Amino acid sequence: MSAALADVAARAAPASVRALSRTAELYDRVRRVVPPLEWPAFADDIDAILRLKHERNAVVLAHNYMSPEIFHCVSDIVGDSLALAREAQTVDADVIVMAGVHFMAETAKMLNPGKTVLIPDLRAGCSLASSITAADVRLLRQRYPRRPVVTYVNTSAEVKAESDICCTSGNAKKIVESLGVPEVIMIPDKYLAANVARETGVKIIAWEGACEVHERFTARQIRSLRADNPGVVVLAHPECPPDVVDEADYAGSTAGMQDYVARRQPGRVVLITECSMADNVAVLHPGVEFVRPCNLCPHMKRISLRNIRSALENMEHEVVIEPAVAVRARRAVERMLEV
Ligand code: 13P
Ligand code: SF4
Repeated sequence: MSAALADVAARAAPASVRALSRTAELYDRVRRVVPPLEWPAFADDIDAILRLKHERNAVVLAHNYMSPEIFHCVSDIVGDSLALAREAQTVDADVIVMAGVHFMAETAKMLNPGKTVLIPDLRAGCSLASSITAADVRLLRQRYPRRPVVTYVNTSAEVKAESDICCTSGNAKKIVESLGVPEVIMIPDKYLAANVARETGVKIIAWEGACEVHERFTARQIRSLRADNPGVVVLAHPECPPDVVDEADYAGSTAGMQDYVARRQPGRVVLITECSMADNVAVLHPGVEFVRPCNLCPHMKRISLRNIRSALENMEHEVVIEPAVAVRARRAVERMLEV
């Protein structure tokens, strides 16, 4: 146990001292981004979650936007939306706890329907997923017949069920190009659609949805970040408006950004995406300096160690999808995974 943590342990209750000593190695992993004074509040829950995962034969899948104490200390599988979907297919455990938002839990359930899939807080939604309904997709099809519908995974199972194929930020360009047509309907993110249209030359009929985290970044903010932080490498998520992507050195999914940092080891970098991502990548790359504008996703931040623990204790909240919807939605996701 480090000196800083030992000092905190000396003042903690006996039960917490046991948890502190059992989780000391985990603390070492995240000490650069979690202050020692915060750790006792996490240690009890982490200790309990590790025990409960074993008792329930459960795994925790965590998106790159989870806070570092979740991402680095209780997760079994981590990644971007594409990686989590791929990995969910092959999970062998009885229970999957999704440390992410609701559409991610639904995707895991449709790809591995025999498993019990839990989401620690049912309110963990997404501004993109709530921007469009299945009825909207049917109307779009009536209005623009014969165009394939490409649906971002950040949507409900009902919307996926009305779609031809899904995509994520990690494969959107590839999926649109794979269709080999001059025009597609791409829903619901207007910025992702605009970014993909520019990259592919395919005409895109878009929807008015946007990610409430990424749409807050502006081109002017990026220019001022560069002016204030000489030499900074700017990595942006394609849910950002196109003029923000234009200011970046690289645009890609959260996994793409992480790979960029791992491969190139920039001296100084800024990730134009959700706030916790920089903490999680910083833990892995101590030699890289991270500039941190902080836009939090209120939906992702609904997931905490406390409610992951309670999900496992009480086996709540189980994600269920109506079977007829699940079959059609799964087809759209599987088509994406085949590409
Ligand atoms: P990716 O991790 O797939 O890039 O998605 C980002 C996101 O906003 C998920 O909600
Ligand atoms: Fe949705 Fe944006 Fe939050 Fe991702 S970051 S869950 S796209 S609101």
